Amino acid sequence: MSNRYAVILAAGQGTRMKSKLYKVLHPVCGKPMVQHVVDQVSKLNIKEIVTITGHGAEMVEEQLGSSSKYALQVEQLGTAHAVMQARELLEGKEGVTIVVCGDTPLIKHETMEALFKHHEELSAKATILTAHAESPFGYGRVIRNEQAMVEKIVEHKDASEEERKIKEINTGTYCFDNKALFEALNKVTNDNVQGEYYLPDVIEILKNEGEIVTAYQTADFEETLGVNDRVALSQAETFMKKRINEEHMRNGVTIIDPLNTYIGADVKIGSDTVLYPGTILSGNTLIGSDCVIGPHTEISDCHIGDQTVIRQSAAYDSHIGSQVNIGPFAHIRPQSDIHDEVKIGNFVEVKKSVFGKGSKASHLSYIGDAEIGKDVNLGCGSITVNYDGKNKYLTKIEDGVFIGCNSNLVAPVTIGEGAYVAAGSTITEDVPGEALSIARARQVNKENYVQKLNK
Ligand code: UD1
Ligand code: MG
Repeated sequence: MSNRYAVILAAGQGTRMKSKLYKVLHPVCGKPMVQHVVDQVSKLNIKEIVTITGHGAEMVEEQLGSSSKYALQVEQLGTAHAVMQARELLEGKEGVTIVVCGDTPLIKHETMEALFKHHEELSAKATILTAHAESPFGYGRVIRNEQAMVEKIVEHKDASEEERKIKEINTGTYCFDNKALFEALNKVTNDNVQGEYYLPDVIEILKNEGEIVTAYQTADFEETLGVNDRVALSQAETFMKKRINEEHMRNGVTIIDPLNTYIGADVKIGSDTVLYPGTILSGNTLIGSDCVIGPHTEISDCHIGDQTVIRQSAAYDSHIGSQVNIGPFAHIRPQSDIHDEVKIGNFVEVKKSVFGKGSKASHLSYIGDAEIGKDVNLGCGSITVNYDGKNKYLTKIEDGVFIGCNSNLVAPVTIGEGAYVAAGSTITEDVPGEALSIARARQVNKENYVQKLNK
């Protein structure tokens, strides 16, 4: 195998997206398009990946980090001009360079591997990855001669009526002999409708020099979809979503209604977990085995153990253990740490709090900035009063505490191990362990009051 290099084109503004966000940073299933591309390219045994940045260069570099080197294209004069910017990093190197557009998020490493193989087997100087498109509008068309050999690529805008009928399109991914690529780039001109330096022109240049130029057609057009506007973005989302859901199903996850289940590209799920409709899992979320999630549940950046049930709820940036039962209608806010066998029932909001093993808040509570021990029972309507308008304070509830219904715990405050708080209390001072604390007005019954009133 020859040395492999990669150039990823990501400098364009993406005018057709009509967006403040640079095109290649638009997410597909929660991950920026260019990140999808780099993740796939990274699986190809590449010596050096060079990403061409321009519009939003800093943001693109921040996104991709050290997985790539960068070359800046100050002015976006076309895709050939973009590749030229990698000259200092790559020119003169022996090997094969794959060029991929940052706006083709569905491209798979297996297909790129097949492209490399095809290129190497035919000892070609250039190999285009092509696909058959039912609606080829906007794509460059592959022009072949009578012997079906590739002659050149014509951009949609430059194509004649006849050429526009061709359904074999340039996917924007190519393998080049690295040296031949940089030599040919010097000869590309901008004599076309858009006044741009087109990378596909390298094909015709090499062909005219008598070099071997080939095409490798992939059977799957979906994979090569180029995202230039929001319509294509939504198509990419649909294709990617299907791909991700099917992979989870093949790995043993039950998805009741895949069309209405949205799983981010980096989410991991254990086997025999069941996802009900309306489930949205995103970010760096990890769900164990035998869980039941949904219906109508949003989980983002959470680590969840096994056999946990979360129904009609939202959870963000938190740890949730095994055999936990959450919902319906619970809200787990960031930095919460819910240990095993906890129950968080309907209309309970938890924020930046620890729930020790086996503790329960079954109904209608707000628990914020709290450290709750094991086997604590928080009665219906338990509230941690954590905020005085300026600062937030901690509520500590030790193991085995029982908080009666409708109690306010005014922080900072500690309820000692095994203590009881009577229903309806507003606790403003620490409660010693094993104590019963009652902090409410005594009940007064005025006997025969109504009779007196009516006299
Ligand atoms: C390009 C191809 C077209 C192909 C299609 C596949 C050219 C001239 N045309 O068209 O044959 O069918 O992709 O999706 O190459 N970019 C830069 N610098 C520039 C211009 C573009 O980095 O100066 C980047 C863009 O950020 C983008 C990629 O190159 O990621 C492709 O550019 P785009 O404008 O989307 O080209 P298409 O019109 O889609
Ligand atoms: Mg494009």
